[in-house]
Amino acid sequence: MTLVQKDSWGSRVGLILAMAGNAVGLGNFLRFPVQAVQNGGGAFIIPYLTCFLLMGIPLLWVEWSMGRFGGRHGHHSTPFILHQMDPKRALWKYIGVFGIFTNLAVASYYCYLESWTLSYIWHSVVGTFQGQSAEEVAAFFGNYVDVGTTTTGIPYESIIFWLLCLALNTWILARGLQGGVEKVAKIGMPLLILFGIFLAIRGVTLKAGEHGAVYDGTLGLNFLWTPDYSSIWSGKVWLAAAGQIFFTLSVGMGSIQCYASYVRKKDDIALNAMSAGWMNEFVEVVLGAAIIIPISIGYLGIEKVVEMTKTGGLGLGFRTLPYLFTQWGPAFAAVAGICWFGLLFFAGITSSLAMGTPVMGFLKDEFGWKHKPAAWFFGGLVLVLGLPCVIWFQEGVFDEYDYWAGTVSLVVFALFEIILFAWVFGMDKGWAEITTGADIKVPNVFRFIIKFVTPLFLGFVFFKSLPTIWDNLTKPVPWQVWVGRAILITLFLAIAWFVRVAYLKRKKQLDHVKP
Ligand code: TRP
Repeated sequence: MTLVQKDSWGSRVGLILAMAGNAVGLGNFLRFPVQAVQNGGGAFIIPYLTCFLLMGIPLLWVEWSMGRFGGRHGHHSTPFILHQMDPKRALWKYIGVFGIFTNLAVASYYCYLESWTLSYIWHSVVGTFQGQSAEEVAAFFGNYVDVGTTTTGIPYESIIFWLLCLALNTWILARGLQGGVEKVAKIGMPLLILFGIFLAIRGVTLKAGEHGAVYDGTLGLNFLWTPDYSSIWSGKVWLAAAGQIFFTLSVGMGSIQCYASYVRKKDDIALNAMSAGWMNEFVEVVLGAAIIIPISIGYLGIEKVVEMTKTGGLGLGFRTLPYLFTQWGPAFAAVAGICWFGLLFFAGITSSLAMGTPVMGFLKDEFGWKHKPAAWFFGGLVLVLGLPCVIWFQEGVFDEYDYWAGTVSLVVFALFEIILFAWVFGMDKGWAEITTGADIKVPNVFRFIIKFVTPLFLGFVFFKSLPTIWDNLTKPVPWQVWVGRAILITLFLAIAWFVRVAYLKRKKQLDHVKP
């Protein structure tokens, strides 16, 4: 018998892997090591773990329960999930706009970055980097992102890989939750962990003098894991740690709420949220920390690596690592390259798929769209919005999107949602949402933490970051960056307008029903 079924997850394992895949992303392998190195290694770890306990875990529970609550009422994206939690105030559905905006804006640069990994897998297989000097491998990256230059003889190579990557994402999304997203997570996550363990073992067993390494791999590990209390009072380090926790766990984005809205009414969320969240932390602080840092520090030393991360995050992973791999001989270099860029690819795609679902959910719920057209619409939109990042990569549009959508928005949205959850919706109802169907006992202190500690902490982080936000806005930038900003503002307003249209439509239907 074929029943028309509402979208939902196929199995518990599938749900946890998809949620872990949502969280585990390029942030774990490229952003985390760089943030850690930039903020003093061991000095970063304490604020980082504190932020995980006091903001990360509470927000995971809050967002999972908001999602399941919304799904029960037929909502799969944040504008109307938030609205449902406080139907009397008009404000919340517009705050919910962030939960669609962030996903679209981040997908627009994230998918481009994701597509590089495909090209680099290809170059690892064919041995492009063999016999090249460190400078040549580094210059290769510059040529790659320079749209006009070709590195394979294929013109517009970076654009072709990008289109391929977008098409792949769209195709998987179009296949639906169980047949697409969940399947990719079930294949991708185990492979990613396997590749990660392989490279991590290589990283920590690196010996000075072998294959041209200057230091042991453990030098980098110690740099990261020796707590340094001196910078514990530095606001900058705390901001960086909070920002990393948000980005890596995918909280403050609307994508957890969306995935959780497909959980069945009485199914556990307390334990599931912890499983996915802790899996992300394992991948980040164990695997993410044991690859790029030990290998690059083993060859270049701490000082040089600290220096290199100052110019941005992507250098180490794409400009340096492929060269260092070649030190291990052609066969091993190919294997290491495939593992590294393959791991990045799986990390990336399971996250970019999570960015598509809230947008599709919104179109389906509010405008009655079918699943497939919604997927293609998302793909098309990311193509249009991503184009400025691709052609003006060197002018800084890519970083600009990352700053506003991937950093600032998350904190703003999380601050509003925790206030809504703990103070407007109310902690009694909120706690009931978190604990209904729970397969673990959620410690009671978290009632207190969610109500007081997390909002205060978040508010503090937000106010501390205002001066930096202001500096960023007022410093001179190329005009292309202003185009990027204009696009982001337009996008936000456009989504808000659609939310309004959807709201009025709903109201009219309700008025109709009333006698
Ligand atoms: N957490 C992902 C990472 O670490 C990024 C991510 C996943 C994301 N889903 C998202 C970013 C939704 C913005 C919106 O790379």
